[in-house]
Amino acid sequence: MRILRTIAEVRGAVADARGAGKSIGLVPTMGAFHEGHLSLMRRARERDGLVVVSLFVNPTQFGANEDLGAYPRDEQRDAALAEAEGVDILFAPTADEVYPDGFATTIHVAGLTEVLCGAQRGPHHFDGVATVVAKLFGIACPDTAYFGQKDAQQVMVVRRVVRDLNLDVRIEACPIVREPDGLAMSSRNVYLDADARTQATALNRALDAASAAAEAGERDASRLLTAAQRVLDDAGIAPEYLELRDADDLRTVDRLDADALLAVAARVGTARLIDNHVLKAS
Ligand code: PAJ
Repeated sequence: MRILRTIAEVRGAVADARGAGKSIGLVPTMGAFHEGHLSLMRRARERDGLVVVSLFVNPTQFGANEDLGAYPRDEQRDAALAEAEGVDILFAPTADEVYPDGFATTIHVAGLTEVLCGAQRGPHHFDGVATVVAKLFGIACPDTAYFGQKDAQQVMVVRRVVRDLNLDVRIEACPIVREPDGLAMSSRNVYLDADARTQATALNRALDAASAAAEAGERDASRLLTAAQRVLDDAGIAPEYLELRDADDLRTVDRLDADALLAVAARVGTARLIDNHVLKAS
């Protein structure tokens, strides 16, 4: 595995691979790898001839009061984990390489970014994600880019950028990888102390309760949400949001007539955690 710092080096490696007839798979990350990240790398390794993983804690998607400074960073550990998955290139640029002096472009996706995490974290968050992901697409020219369904709204925003800007990239969303007790894996789980770690399991249990109600035939959105809210109440969690929204366009739904995204975000201890289930209408 090669660790590359510059855009020019990545372009060179990608051009060589293309010349050799290989497809390019890209896995954008911010590091602090766990099984969620590794599952994306494995999927890319299965499908593509050249697997590029980017490791860049993107400052523009963090708010002033968020955890940019505290975000876990351990490049050596991450490099060893990526290498063990058969990754070809770890692209770990500096912030200056990504945002040189004079950088002036922002990609803003209207609508989709104004709800859920966009409403909570502010517009800068998905603007930062959309812009850095579009840049990574421009740098690595992937055939396929792999994202986790854990960040369901992020995948939707990226798909919209690809569609609206006619980018020639296939987006593959991969399933949420969970701890044995159901907690969705996240780089931010390291912020949880023992009590918060136990409390955090309520997020997926709450989503499970609503999923079970949906499977039993409940179609009323407010009853489905109440089933989930009860579990959060019992665990002493007041969510930032707990919402049921259309899985295609994130409009709020009153009834489960089409597949819907049940999404939750909550502060647990000092960590801000998110999780979601897709509730099937049939
Ligand atoms: P990061 O949080 O490092 O996540 C990198 C990728 O791993 C994302 O696509 C995310 O959805 C996926 N992922 C995280 N936890 C997962 C889990 N438990 N199961 C499956 N996939 C999981 O998301 C980002 O970085 C950034 O916003 C980025 C897209 C790199 C842009 O800066």
